[in-house]
This record gives sequence, C-alpha cells and structure tokens, in this order.
Amino acid sequence: METSVKSLDKTVLVFGATGQQGGSVASALRSNGWRVKALVRDPNTDKSEAIAAQGIELVRGDLTDVPSIQAAMVGIYGVFSVQPSSGQGAAAGVTDEAEIRYGKAIADIAVANDVHHLVYSSANAAGATKTGIGHFDTKSEIEEYIRGLNILSTVIRPSAFMEILTLPGMGLDKGAFAFFMRPDQPMQFIAVEDIGKIVARIFAAPAKLGSQTIEIAGDTVTGAELAEKFSRTAGCPITYHRFPDSLLEQNAFLGRLARLVDQGRLAGNADVASLRENFPGLLTMDEWLTGAGRSALLATIQADGGEVALR
Ligand SMILES: NC(=O)c1ccc[n+]([C@@H]2O[C@H](COP(=O)([O-])OP(=O)(O)OC[C@H]3O[C@@H](n4cnc5c(N)ncnc54)[C@H](OP(=O)(O)O)[C@@H]3O)[C@@H](O)[C@H]2O)c1
Repeated sequence: METSVKSLDKTVLVFGATGQQGGSVASALRSNGWRVKALVRDPNTDKSEAIAAQGIELVRGDLTDVPSIQAAMVGIYGVFSVQPSSGQGAAAGVTDEAEIRYGKAIADIAVANDVHHLVYSSANAAGATKTGIGHFDTKSEIEEYIRGLNILSTVIRPSAFMEILTLPGMGLDKGAFAFFMRPDQPMQFIAVEDIGKIVARIFAAPAKLGSQTIEIAGDTVTGAELAEKFSRTAGCPITYHRFPDSLLEQNAFLGRLARLVDQGRLAGNADVASLRENFPGLLTMDEWLTGAGRSALLATIQADGGEVALR
C-alpha cells in the first residue's frame, strides 16, 4: 500500500511562486493542506499579495542572494525548485550559468538543512545527451547534480505549456496559427495548473513518487488537430502551418527548437495514459480550451483589433 505523507504541520518552500509553475504548485499544495512558504523578490506586488491571500507565507529573497535562500530554508520539509531560464528571452536576464548556479544552490541548501523531499522542475528535452540548446542542457546538468546528492528528490520534466500556444505573435489574430510541429506531427503539452496538481501528489506520496524522473504531459496533438480545436473554440476558421523554413533558417534559436521537435525530443515522450493513473484529472487540450485556454485564445485573437471575426 502507498505510504502517504500527512501535510498538516509540514511546510513546503516554493520558488517562483509569482510565476506560472511556482504559482500553480503553491496554490495546489495550499489547497491540499500543506503549509506553504513562497520566496519572493518583492512581497508588495499584486502577484505576491494574491499568493499571500491564499494563506501562503511570503519570505523575501532572491536567487542571487544565497543567505536569503538559506534563511528561507530553515525548518522546511519540502522544496519545489524551478528557475527562470535563458530561453525566456532577454527580459528575464538569466544566463545559462546563472540558471545552473541557482538550481544547484537551492539543492545544496536543501541538503544542508535536512530537507526531506526536493522536487525539481526540469523540461522534457533534458536528458543524458546534450541538445545544444542552453536552457535544456542547463536542466540536464542540474538534474544530474541533484541525483548525486544525499536527499530524496523527484525530477519532473514538463512538456511545452498549453499556455504558450496562445501567446501573441503566432498568427492567431490573423486566423493563421503557426508553431513548431508539422501539421501531421504530434507534440505533447501540459496545462500549467496540472503541474501544481502533480507536484502536490508527489509531495504526498514520497515512497511511491520520490527518487523518480517523470516526464509530464496532459495531451498529445498534431498541428492539424490544434487548428480544428482552436477553430471550434473560437467559432471561426483558424488554419495551421509550421513556422516557415525562411524564419527557421534566419532565427538560429527557433531553427534548433524545430529540429529538436523533429527529433522527437521536444515533441515529448511522456506516457500520458500511465500519468493519468498516477495523477487523475490531467487536462486534455479540449478541456483546457473550455476554461482558461478559451479566454486566453479569444483574448489573443482579438488583440490589436485582430482580423478574425468571432462568433
Ligand atoms: N514555457 C514552457 O513551455 C516550458 C516548458 C518546460 C519547462 N519550462 C521552464 O520553466 C521555467 C520557467 O518557469 P515559469 O514559466 O513558471 O516561470 P515564470 O512564470 O517566468 O516565473 C519566473 C519566476 O521566477 C521568479 N524569479 C525570477 N528571477 C528571480 C530571482 N532572481 N530571485 C527569485 N525569484 C526570481 C519570478 O519572480 P518575480 O515575480 O519576482 O519576477 C517568477 O516567480 C524555465 O526554466 C523554463 O525553461 C518552460
């Protein structure tokens, strides 16, 4: 029988709680009865205040400030570790070296404080061999480092987030969506809210889900299927094509990502059926598109006076 951990009186420290993954994880843990601390750079932002309103304790800290991480880690049972990455663009201001430094420092400090369970969020393209893409190879290095430490750890490798599909700039406002996979090529996605549900379950079942590396996804869809789902949700035709070859040649970063999708590594290899047994209720793309995804899709289609006529 699975040994489950009672969350009462145990505290999990969550990094990145004002962001997508950390926010999802902090909320899910809190809903499951854990005490949650969130290390935030500024406790006075709207996002920080929204976290505090859920009964989550804010501790001021910064990944660049090791003593602030050490202070936050005292008396902590579990840690959820995620780092911003260089792949998030210049605005994030994070180099590959910094991402690795932050990921290793959190793990080292967790060990020094006898933390019982560390959950590290990596990415599906991470693995034993290099991808040639900085923000994936950083994660492979952090994973390997954590596995060598004397701490119970679980690595999750999320697929691409469903949320990235509705970001502006990929043609939705023109009714012509473009992304990395070919129209007939399957790619895996996960709704950010499911990352929280999965991590809460992992913390509750360390005997079963500790010491594992788990690739996670909620659904597998082709480009053509996405066009059909988006059209049905928006009530107007949305076509799909892969990013044009000219763009993938001009933009070396996008070109390398597209090659990784072609090689299968970034398209994802999660066993979604088994995941659904361990983590019931993972959202399919259709389910996501009836909730948060629908609002995001419609907002992007209509942004800047989009050319698509919604029903
Ligand atoms: N997008 C995808 O499809 C995908 C898929 C798999 C994996 N990933 C990986 O997911 C990671 C990003 O996760 P996310 O999307 O949840 O991030 P996010 O939404 O961009 O949030 C980043 C979080 O990190 C915090 N942060 C940034 N710099 C900090 C610092 N110096 N000290 C303390 N906190 C700091 C931010 O806090 P502030 O509020 O203070 O800025 C925010 O809470 C990346 O490593 C990426 O490679 C992404």
